[in-house]
Amino acid sequence: MSDLIKNISLNNVPQHVAVIMDGNGRWAKKNGYLRAIGHKNGIRAVKEAVEACIKLNINTLTLYAFSTENWNRPKPEVDALMELLVTALSKELETFKTNNIKLHTIGETNQLPNRCQKKLNDVITQTKNNTGLNLVLALSYSSKTEIINAIKSIASDVLTNHLSKKVINEKNFVKYLQTAGIPDPDLIIRTGFEKRISNFLLWQIAYSELYFCDRLWPDFTKNDFYEAVIEYQKRERRFGKTSDQLNS
Ligand code: FPP
Repeated sequence: MSDLIKNISLNNVPQHVAVIMDGNGRWAKKNGYLRAIGHKNGIRAVKEAVEACIKLNINTLTLYAFSTENWNRPKPEVDALMELLVTALSKELETFKTNNIKLHTIGETNQLPNRCQKKLNDVITQTKNNTGLNLVLALSYSSKTEIINAIKSIASDVLTNHLSKKVINEKNFVKYLQTAGIPDPDLIIRTGFEKRISNFLLWQIAYSELYFCDRLWPDFTKNDFYEAVIEYQKRERRFGKTSDQLNS
């Protein structure tokens, strides 16, 4: 397929794209491999998405790499995913540096094995002064847990007089989410043929455009990313207003 980037208007790209990378297991099964091999091949697709973001000058890419619910998978698969995280981060650190990528995480990363936490902290520290793409990995992430934790912190701040009940509003609530400081996603891409959100960024996607890509994640390419952005650019984002209001 030809490079679709030429069909994208570069002054209207989404600021933040978030991706639900689904279909590694089915890809592995289809090709006669163990599920872990599907995840391993998912890394190539991660690189495609990152490269597409850099080419389009997108500010933030969030990848749903491991949900809280994924802890319930068979232990060998969980172990393989944790190992993959460490090896991928070790391998890609130089790429992050040369491409000015800054790594962030959201999720209960304290639940990850120590070696993952150490590697993540190392890469986060080594990329903290980078000013290009913000790459956010959602790891051991549950949006419902994130919201409940925000509510607990707010309750505690109200009880200790650090916050007045009167100023609990949307603007202040988001400061208690793990995504504080990160703009809400403009575009959500989900691969793997399923049409659901799976406990991902429930608050933050209130007005995101949803795009479902009919590919298993390891088959995802830059052109698939560009197709999602082309579709995004055709959408009219009304945020509750009418079309006439937007055009006047
Ligand atoms: C969903 O496919 C994918 C995951 C649970 C893990 C995604 C992880 C990677 C792509 C690799 C690690 C990423 C980084 C950033 C280091 P699935 O297993 O649910 O597939 P299925 O629905 O076909 O079973």
